[in-house]
Amino acid sequence: MLSGVVIGAGERGTNAYLAALETEPSPARIVAVAEPDPVRRRFFGERFGVDPSARFADFRELLGGPSRADFALVTTPDDLHVEPAVLALERGYHVLLEKPMATDEAACERLVEASEKTGRLLQICHVLRYAPLYQAIKAVIDAGELGKVVTIQHSENVSYWHYAHSYVRGHWRNRNASSPMILAKSCHDLDLLYWLAGAPPVRLGSIERATELCEENAPDGAPERCIDGCPHAERCPYDAVAMYRDLTPLLLDLRLARQLPPGADESGPEEGPPRAEGWRGWPVSVLSSDPSPEGIERALRETRYGRCVYRVGDNDQPASQSVELLFANGVNASFTMHGGSHREGRETRIDGTRASLVAGFYTLEQLAEITDHKTGRTRRLPLTLESGAHGGSDPRLFRSFLNAVEGRGEPLTTARESLWSHRMAFAADHCARNACVATWETSR
Ligand SMILES: NC(=O)c1ccc[n+]([C@@H]2O[C@H](COP(=O)([O-])OP(=O)(O)OC[C@H]3O[C@@H](n4cnc5c(N)ncnc54)[C@H](O)[C@@H]3O)[C@@H](O)[C@H]2O)c1
Repeated sequence: MLSGVVIGAGERGTNAYLAALETEPSPARIVAVAEPDPVRRRFFGERFGVDPSARFADFRELLGGPSRADFALVTTPDDLHVEPAVLALERGYHVLLEKPMATDEAACERLVEASEKTGRLLQICHVLRYAPLYQAIKAVIDAGELGKVVTIQHSENVSYWHYAHSYVRGHWRNRNASSPMILAKSCHDLDLLYWLAGAPPVRLGSIERATELCEENAPDGAPERCIDGCPHAERCPYDAVAMYRDLTPLLLDLRLARQLPPGADESGPEEGPPRAEGWRGWPVSVLSSDPSPEGIERALRETRYGRCVYRVGDNDQPASQSVELLFANGVNASFTMHGGSHREGRETRIDGTRASLVAGFYTLEQLAEITDHKTGRTRRLPLTLESGAHGGSDPRLFRSFLNAVEGRGEPLTTARESLWSHRMAFAADHCARNACVATWETSR
């Protein structure tokens, strides 16, 4: 059985990929973990059966000696990817690295070089390639059903509350301290466009719009923290008490996904929608490891997740950004990312010389229809819903990585290919801030 180590036992390191190990028979076991937060470290160690002597506070301790396992899952914060990943490759581990690879292009290239020099696999977690929906779309394009692809219009509709959680109050609120949202959130989408277009980009332009969620727009009388009796709580969609204690936005998103009528009983069986009380999953897991009412109240009083969304102070991620692209084979793509959607999801439209495809990727729902130009007939792609984060993509990606480590197949992308999504994201950030256009030589 394969063995692995985990560097960064946070949200992704604990909850995204390793669900694939909790099946029988398990394809791999985790033999060591590095995580500075003692609560997370212990929780992870107990959940995955890591011996206490192999639980470390820092990746340098874990990677200090000879290799302990076949692979390393690196799920540290954005600005701490390069050092542990390069060290792990040099120590002989195959590496599964969270996106973004790094926060600048030279560091991304350093990672690819380390992988090629050591001959170890480096796979970047571009999970969307593993979504049943996008795999089916790619197969339709490759089979020629759409004819020649002319345009791709794609949007990432981040829900208003996910945006507030991650990009206003959370880890990614400040682009210099973490990374630009177009990189952090949407390098997946840029990778998808590159993959579906089937060629590297040659030209890119971008425009962004600043966020509304800043001090000057704070409603009169709003306190510093939502829990301190905000007079606007009933009408404010960003009320932190509703978001984290009552889970209202999450439950509304799930209701839309399940078409539950308003007022339906949401407590349900275990497989059903979460109960607000005691919910341990995302986004609550990010602000507290104690999901009791007291634990949530403490987090609302003490962490930045309880702050008035207009009063965070150092958030500068855009409310929306659009990216226009031309690929080397003539495909013209347009991508919009924004943080104002009623519902979390992505929408894609691909128009070819023979047919058009319209697709949606939402919480608990993936759908796509193709209409043929000549016959006018529409067919719906058969898609089954899978469990797991990102519509089942995360465990699928992890299983594919494990297969590749065992020499049983190739991942759907290489680290060198992943450079393109990052180049596009860096260029989009630069072009939006400097009102310019980026170009690449086709031969690069
Ligand atoms: N592929 C995806 O779809 C996807 C989705 C969300 C986030 N991400 C990416 O995953 C990464 C992790 O995100 P997250 O939400 O899990 O963040 P997180 O903050 O929950 O987890 C990161 C963990 O790394 C730990 N860490 C910090 N310094 C360390 C060190 N020196 N040694 C070992 N561990 C250390 C932190 O304590 C934390 O627990 C980020 O880069 C993020 O952008 C990817």
